[in-house]
Amino acid sequence: MDLIKEINRLRQEKNAVILAHYYQIGEIQDIADFVGDSLDLSRKSADTDAGIIVFAGVNFMAETAKILSPEKKVLIPDREAGCSLADSCPPDLFRRFIDKHPGHIVVSYVNTTAEIKAMTDICCTSTNAVKVIESIPRDQKIIFAPDRNLGNYINSITGRNMVVWDGACHVHEEFSLERILELKERYPEAKLISHPECQKPIQIASDFIGSTSALLKFTSNDKGREYIVATESGILHQMKKQSPGKLFIPAPPIDSTCGCSDCKYMKLHTIQKIYTSLNEEKFEVDVDPAIRERAVVPIRRMLEISG
Ligand code: 13P
Ligand code: SF4
Repeated sequence: MDLIKEINRLRQEKNAVILAHYYQIGEIQDIADFVGDSLDLSRKSADTDAGIIVFAGVNFMAETAKILSPEKKVLIPDREAGCSLADSCPPDLFRRFIDKHPGHIVVSYVNTTAEIKAMTDICCTSTNAVKVIESIPRDQKIIFAPDRNLGNYINSITGRNMVVWDGACHVHEEFSLERILELKERYPEAKLISHPECQKPIQIASDFIGSTSALLKFTSNDKGREYIVATESGILHQMKKQSPGKLFIPAPPIDSTCGCSDCKYMKLHTIQKIYTSLNEEKFEVDVDPAIRERAVVPIRRMLEISG
């Protein structure tokens, strides 16, 4: 069976769209109706008039789509597509953390469960985090969750003193500065570019820090020819497509023989699973209506602020 042909037939018949994050395998990015970072994908899921969204991303992204469009059927091709960062912020502990910090407003990165969003005042993504924080009066105390590296990075560039939850992503925390510096010796012209979820030493050594889409834009517009990319390796697919003459080297993690950095959750999806998801309309993502009602507020605020 020609899976791509079948996917095309099914998505037309069922009025479905396939949304894919930049961390998906190249084949999935290439068949998606829309590819983007987490901010683009939440905007797209709010705007689409398709009846079915097949979300090739992780659970928190599919949940965000369902929260924004409860009338639509949201499907995730592999329901094990979780997120170590979202898991690092359990709702019961986070509730206690909020209670310990009265008078603070809560800003959460979208990489959280719907329950955490329901305790949040404004969401953000790595693309709009600075804009969201700058929209809050300077004397307002802020809790930022769940990523400590992104939180500390925002503190350093905005001069705020947010209280930061101690969470992290298994992919971005794993880059090895030592191995990156070895690569820099072999490729002296290469610029190191990194996601703000990376640890501080990687950020300090970087020529540019930005969200997934900011990194992509940087490599398209920059005059350089070689880049060591410290984020999930799926983005290299778009970088190579947009800048075919340039060299992109995935930054190596501490413990890896493959030299690449894949998010084990993002990479669970396959073309076969996308086909099955569309064909059998599984696995349906649902969010408790009481949680949804509260969780939609900070997501909408974020979309209003980021325009
Ligand atoms: P972006 O906000 O850059 O899409 O990041 C999503 C993500 O999962 C980062 O690890
Ligand atoms: Fe979560 Fe990290 Fe995977 Fe992004 S790369 S989905 S933050 S585990």
